[in-house]
Amino acid sequence: MSVHSEQQHKVTVRSLQAQKQAGEKIVCLTAYDASFAQVLDKAGVDVVLVGDSLGMVVQGNETTLPVTVSDMLYHSKAVSRGLSRAMLMVDMPYLSYTSVPQALENAGRFMKQAGAQMVKLEGGAEQAEIVSRLAQHGIPVCAHLGLQPQRVHKLGGYRVQGRERDAADAMLEQAQQLEQAGADVMLLECVPEELANNITQALGIPVIGIGASAGCDGQILVLYDILGISMGRIPKFSRDFMAETGSIEAAVKSYVDAVKTGQFPGNEHVFS
Ligand code: KIV
Repeated sequence: MSVHSEQQHKVTVRSLQAQKQAGEKIVCLTAYDASFAQVLDKAGVDVVLVGDSLGMVVQGNETTLPVTVSDMLYHSKAVSRGLSRAMLMVDMPYLSYTSVPQALENAGRFMKQAGAQMVKLEGGAEQAEIVSRLAQHGIPVCAHLGLQPQRVHKLGGYRVQGRERDAADAMLEQAQQLEQAGADVMLLECVPEELANNITQALGIPVIGIGASAGCDGQILVLYDILGISMGRIPKFSRDFMAETGSIEAAVKSYVDAVKTGQFPGNEHVFS
């Protein structure tokens, strides 16, 4: 029986926690406008992320770095109007959370003006104080480890993170520190399967993977990738559900079902 079977209960931090405990996969997907948000909500997506990936797939930039707080507010307000059941998670864009006051101000705008129920921010232990202060002010946080696209220039490209032993140990430790600081959800992007499994087992909070492991508590992908309309090629960790189904609604439903039943991600979508 589903954690949400009493229906149409809104997804909350508590219900996500219950899904982890019940071993019920959490389905997440990005959206950037009200119409797509409504399709995702009806298909049973649990968490809709207004990702700063919009800088690439909507605005056509090469990276997420140009995205502003105003951009995120505009798209988040639109997405929130399309949701009734799913949780709205909003990405904090590049350099919008460099200090506690700045993070509180910007996360507060997403909560107050756009109806966000959670914000997501990239970074490791150096973000612990910000996560903690957001939590103290009642702002749920999803921490984002592994490949952090806002650091693409420092990383020297979009590559798998945590392959070396030291880096893997450090990521596990940082994940635990962020949980202790008050993070409610952890997102792992492009992390080797074994490390993703270790982190998922070590944390009490739900762990969502993208290019991580089927063993994570949930999965997220970029909407345009599953619809086969991304700029450039579809990443290894994604799957073109549109090609398999033929309509937007069916593609999203097929993704939801594939995650719920553990059929996605397959071995070809994860890294060793
Ligand atoms: O910006 C985004 O869409 C993301 C997902 C890729 C997780 O952070």
